[in-house]
Formats: sequence, C-alpha cells, structure tokens
Amino acid sequence: MTTTQEPHISGTDADAVLRAIEEASSKTFLPIVGPKKGKFLSEEIRKNRPKHVLEVGTLIGYSAILMGKELDDDAELVTIEIHADESELASKNILKAKLPAKVTIIIGNALDVIPTLKGPFDFAFIDAEKTEYLRYLKLAEGKLRKGAVVFADNAGIFADVMSDYLGYVRNSGKYKSRYVQVDNDGVEISVKL
Ligand SMILES: C[S@@+](CC[C@H](N)C(=O)[O-])C[C@H]1O[C@@H](n2cnc3c(N)ncnc32)[C@H](O)[C@@H]1O
Repeated sequence: MTTTQEPHISGTDADAVLRAIEEASSKTFLPIVGPKKGKFLSEEIRKNRPKHVLEVGTLIGYSAILMGKELDDDAELVTIEIHADESELASKNILKAKLPAKVTIIIGNALDVIPTLKGPFDFAFIDAEKTEYLRYLKLAEGKLRKGAVVFADNAGIFADVMSDYLGYVRNSGKYKSRYVQVDNDGVEISVKL
C-alpha cells in the first residue's frame, strides 16, 4: 500500500494573511509590530525555538501569526487580548494562517489573566498598554524559565512611558537586555538570567 502525503508548504497561508494585514494597515493604520520590527521577532523565535510562548496584546493576530509560523508543531502560543471584537478577528486570521503550532487566544485584561496562567514560558512578547509593561513582566516573571526571551515592542517611541520597564530589564540584574533601533522606533530584547 502506498500513502501519498500532501507536501507541507511552510508559511504560505500565514504569509498571505500577514501581507493582507500589512496591506489593510497601510490604508487604515493598525498598531501591528509590522514587517521591519517583526523580522527581529521572527529571528528571535527561530534562534530560540521556544515551546511555550506568551503574547500580551493580540490585536487581530498579526504578531501571533508571525511568531506562530516559526514555531514547531509541538509548541504552544498563548495570546491575551482585552477586546473581544479584536480577538474574534484574530481568531479568524489565525485559522486562515494554518499555523503549525497550537494557538490559544484568551480574552481578558492581561493583568487579571497572567496570574491564572500555568507556565512556564520560554518566550514572551509584550505589546499591549505601554504604561503597564512592567506590571505584565512582574506578573509573568515567576513563570519565565531561565534563559527565556522577553521581547518588548515600542521601546523607542514610548521609551518615556516605558521608562520603569526599561530601567528594570536593564538594571535589575535579572536580565541581559539590549535595545534594537528600527527606523524611528525600537524593540527591547531581554534574556532572563
Ligand atoms: C499594539 S496592539 C498589539 C499588536 C499586535 N501585537 C501585533 O503586532 O499584531 C495592542 C493590543 O493590546 C490590547 N491591550 C491593551 N491593554 C491590554 C490589557 N491590559 N490586556 C490585554 N490586552 C490589552 C489592545 O486592545 C490592542 O489590541
């Protein structure tokens, strides 16, 4: 007996959804991480091959798809979104993207949701309310493995409102942290020590 396996064309559906969201964002601005900063996010996922990823701030699923398409099929991404209508769109986009990894969207305030999550996580992407980054991190900190990467968006344009967060990851001695400038913005990439 012979079995015919369908060829797995990695990323094709996901790329189409990503391009459609980028196109929509060029017409009506959406605060997605976008392709340029997203390249660094993808690279960190590829380099670290995390199995448990936490995302704070799903919006319509762009960054979840960007990360999810790089994950192994036994990996899981948990993403939190406070607005139900946005999470519904995210759910549709993520289904369309046919990601290899399992993605769970949780609707709620990350400040309430993070304490209920089991963990441990080996990667976190923080991209919700800028003044709350340090609170998200401190709530998640005990669930982050040693060596976990915490990737924070908008560390350039919102550096002032994120100053408590940036001071913490740079100076607490708990992380090795670097800032990556991308055009007029940047991302802070911190590794838990
Ligand atoms: C910048 S957008 C996220 C963009 C997304 N990460 C991407 O790159 O495609 C921020 C999102 O965080 C959500 N948000 C804001 N505060 C939140 C909170 N406390 N808990 C959960 N989600 C929150 C907003 O509703 C919004 O959809």
